[in-house]
Amino acid sequence: MTDTAQSAERHRTDEPGLTILVTGAAGFIGSNFVRAVRRDRPEWQVRVLDCLTYAGDRRRLAGVDVDFIEGDIADPEAARGAVDGASLVVNFAAESHVDRSLLDASDFMRTNVAGAYTIMRAAVDAGVEKFVQVSTDEVYGESRGRAFTERDLLNPRSPYSASKAGGEMQAFAVGVSFGLPVCVTRGVNTVGPWQHPEKAVPLFTINALRDRPLPVYGRGEQRRDRLHVQDHCSAIFTVLERGQPGEVYNISAGNNRDNLTVARAICARLGKPESLIQFVQDRPGHDWDYILDSTRLRELGWAPRYDFQTTLDSTVDWYAANEGWWGPLVEGEFREYYATQYGDRLRKSPP
Ligand code: NAD
Ligand code: DAU
Repeated sequence: MTDTAQSAERHRTDEPGLTILVTGAAGFIGSNFVRAVRRDRPEWQVRVLDCLTYAGDRRRLAGVDVDFIEGDIADPEAARGAVDGASLVVNFAAESHVDRSLLDASDFMRTNVAGAYTIMRAAVDAGVEKFVQVSTDEVYGESRGRAFTERDLLNPRSPYSASKAGGEMQAFAVGVSFGLPVCVTRGVNTVGPWQHPEKAVPLFTINALRDRPLPVYGRGEQRRDRLHVQDHCSAIFTVLERGQPGEVYNISAGNNRDNLTVARAICARLGKPESLIQFVQDRPGHDWDYILDSTRLRELGWAPRYDFQTTLDSTVDWYAANEGWWGPLVEGEFREYYATQYGDRLRKSPP
C-alpha cells in the first residue's frame, strides 16, 4: 500500500479526513484491509458496516479505531445510513464459503446479489466517488491449465460463485444505469491471519495442532493460487486509488499448488506426521484450478510480496500462536457445521 501512496495519479484518496466505508470488515479480508488503511492513512475516517454473521467477529478489529455500525448491506435504510458522507466504499460483505453454499445458498443470494445491489444503489444516492466490489476468481469457473484474463466469459459452477457473479452483474448495471464509479476485483484464494477456521488452510492447521485428521477432498489434486491477505489488501487499495471505473481487475500471486502439497507443508511446518492427512469424499462440482492473468493490475504498479512458502509458513505460525482467537470459534455453531460437513466423510473409507 505504501508504494501506491506515492503515485501522482491517485483518485482523490489524498484528501485528508475523507471517510471510507468498508463493509464486511468484521470478516477475514475486510479486517486486514481496515488495519492496513489505519496504518497507511491515519488521517482517514474509517466506517465499518457489518451484520456479524457466524463469520463476523469484532475481535478482529480489537484496538482498531473505526466507527462500527452493526447492520445489513441488504437493508436499504442501514445501507443509506452507512454510506452517508462516505466518498469511498469497499464492499467485502458476503457469504464466502463454497461448502456452505452447497448446503443452503439462500443467504448467498440475499447478501451477495441483493445486498450488493442495495449498497451500490445507496452509494449512487450518496454521491460516492469510488466503489470497489470485491469479487472472486471463482466466477470464471475452473481454468484447466489456461490463464483467464478479464475479458474471458464467466462460467460459475457453485452456488457461491454464481452469487458472486450476480453481484458483479449488479455492479456493471448500477455503473451504467446510475453512473456509479465502480471497479470489480477478482482475487484468488487468500490466506493469512484472522481467517475463519472453516477454510482449508486454517482448518488443516488447527486439526494438525490438535492431532486430528486433515480432511483433504478427493485425492488433493485440485490447485489453488494462495495469495497472502496483505497482498490482496494492497491490490484492492491500488484499484481504489487508480482503477478505471467500469473495469475489472484480476488479483493473482502465481503461488499455485495442489491441496495435498499444502496439507503436507502444514504438517511439516508443525512437525506433525503426514499420516494425519485423510482423503475424504470430494466437494461436489469441485473446481479443478483457477489461474489468473493479473497483467492489468500489475500495470497499475501492484505486485505481490509473499511467495508460496512465506505465505503458508507465516499463516501456520500465526494460528499456532493465536489459539486464544480461534479456540472459541471452533465451538458452538462450528461444531454442528463440522459434524454435517465432515461427520460422514471422516467415518467413511477414502474414495
Ligand atoms: P468472511 O466470510 O471472512 O467475512 C465476511 C464478512 O461479511 C463477515 O464479517 C460477515 O459478518 C459480513 N457479512 C455477511 N453478510 C453481510 C450482510 N448482509 N451485511 C453486512 N455484513 C455481512 O469473508 P472473506 O474471506 O473476508 O471475504 C471477503 C470478500 O472477499 C467476499 O466478498 C469474498 O467473496 C471475497 N473473496 C474472498 C477470498 C478468500 O479467499 N477468502 C478470495 C477472493 C475474494
Ligand atoms: O478462490 C477464491 C475463493 O477462495 C474465495 O472466493 C472464497 O470466498 C474462499 O472461501 C476460497 O474458496 P475455496 O473453495 O478455494 O477455499 P477453501 O478454503 O474452502 O478450499 C480450498 C481448497 O481446499 C479447495 O480446493 C477445496 C479444498 N478443501 C477445502 C476444505 C474446507 C479440502 O480439501 N478440504 C477441506 O476441508
